[in-house]
Amino acid sequence: MGKTFISTAIDYVNAFPHIGHALEKIFADVFARRERLLGREVFFLSGTDENSLKNVRAAETAGVSVNELVKKNADKFFELKDIFDLSLDDFIRTTEERHTLGVQKLWKACEKDIFKKKYSGLYCVSCETFYKESELENGLCPTHLTKPEFLEEENYFFKLSKYQDYLKDLIEKEKIKIIPQSRKNEILAFINKGLEDICISRSSERAHGWGIDVPGDSSQKIWVWFDALSNYITALGFGKGGEKFENFWQKNDRKIHVVGKDILKFHAVYWPAILYSVGLNTPDIIFAHGFITVDGQKMSKSLGNIIDPFELVEKYGVDVTRYFFLAEFPTTDDGDFSYEKFENRYNADLANGIGNLFERTFSMVLKYGVENIKNAGVDQVILNLYEQTEKAYSEKMSNFQFYEALKDVLLFAGTIDKYINNKKPWSLVDDKSDETKKILSGLMFSSEKIIFWLKPFMPAKMEKVENYLKNLSEQKEKLNLFPRIQ
Ligand code: MSP
Repeated sequence: MGKTFISTAIDYVNAFPHIGHALEKIFADVFARRERLLGREVFFLSGTDENSLKNVRAAETAGVSVNELVKKNADKFFELKDIFDLSLDDFIRTTEERHTLGVQKLWKACEKDIFKKKYSGLYCVSCETFYKESELENGLCPTHLTKPEFLEEENYFFKLSKYQDYLKDLIEKEKIKIIPQSRKNEILAFINKGLEDICISRSSERAHGWGIDVPGDSSQKIWVWFDALSNYITALGFGKGGEKFENFWQKNDRKIHVVGKDILKFHAVYWPAILYSVGLNTPDIIFAHGFITVDGQKMSKSLGNIIDPFELVEKYGVDVTRYFFLAEFPTTDDGDFSYEKFENRYNADLANGIGNLFERTFSMVLKYGVENIKNAGVDQVILNLYEQTEKAYSEKMSNFQFYEALKDVLLFAGTIDKYINNKKPWSLVDDKSDETKKILSGLMFSSEKIIFWLKPFMPAKMEKVENYLKNLSEQKEKLNLFPRIQ
């Protein structure tokens, strides 16, 4: 049985989670669930990034200790697991000892590439990164549109420039496959501009004493990105070594990072260089997803348009909320949230689409008699359509094209619906011919395939249908899986 390691980004805990954070975890969960359905052994990891300066500042503003703030918010991020039914195998907080241990071990292992120098530059605290003048947009951080701070310090640096050719080869030859292709091109362009050595520590004073000490120099804290990226291996037990790390990292060639487009550079350039410097394996696939906006605008506290994932699930339920995020826009594009879109999509695809098809099929089969269609075979037309859809669906699922995969499933369901309209099996309740049996048995076959395809997307709803079907012949009530939203 093959193995899959899949991770999400670990979130900053300066505030509560918003739907953007949830979206990424849902993308990774769909992939993890699909891999399990294919029989692979999966390790699905998420967590929280707690040693950032942003967290220190947020705690100062809130008038609480940093510890108190990160604990409270990290708990809220952990709750995403339950409310979105994330099939996580582990959740790492970067303030845990196993993490600290691993980060310091990693630092020591790449000491040959670490040196100290005086440096001055422009730093964006929200990105936790230095920018060159040329990278700014009108003097502002291109992601946060805020003015970076000028900093001057003596810090530790990592010799990234040394790995320019190695990294270029790695990305170009797809030894790390970046999905989508357009992002691969962006990374190559970034590498081709010339890589500079990166600053990987800050003074403990600037860090307000918060963060992980540089081994052997407590006047410096490890840069939060060096610290955060390490979570992927510290969670596997890199600090102490052991089987989990060996099996899911070193001896596994299906290691996948799911990240937002804004942090791809850290994962596709800095992280592989650090790993290579130490002689560890690099990730195999990095999937960079788009951003979610609200009514066409970036979510922000000042605009007051932050959508609370907890409220959304409370109102619509977990699977329906997952479905909206997965069916409304391609994973690699930016997508827009609005309640109107949410309800329209639900009614069109689920209440009138899949839900209706299930209802029609099950009620006809019930009337006809479940036992009457056993071993009746499946119409070749349906088999052909199934094979075609299965192929397209599988290909898209393995490339994180969930929106496209769902479109295939819906198209299949729509075609089956038309097939029902043409064959009119409801008029054949008393006809016990082989052909009629085959029609109904084909409809059950189609429903089962749809259930299987939709499992990674709506696990609880699909389990509900499966349970309903287990003793279909005794069902007195309609399934009512997706009642219409009025
Ligand atoms: N802590 C870093 C990641 C370290 S990974 C070793 C970080 N945290 S974050 O909280 O700012 O973002 C966490 C993830 O959420 C990132 O992948 C980011 O791209 C994603 N998103 C943040 N806002 C988002 C949207 N509005 N939409 C979709 N994803 C978004 O970066």
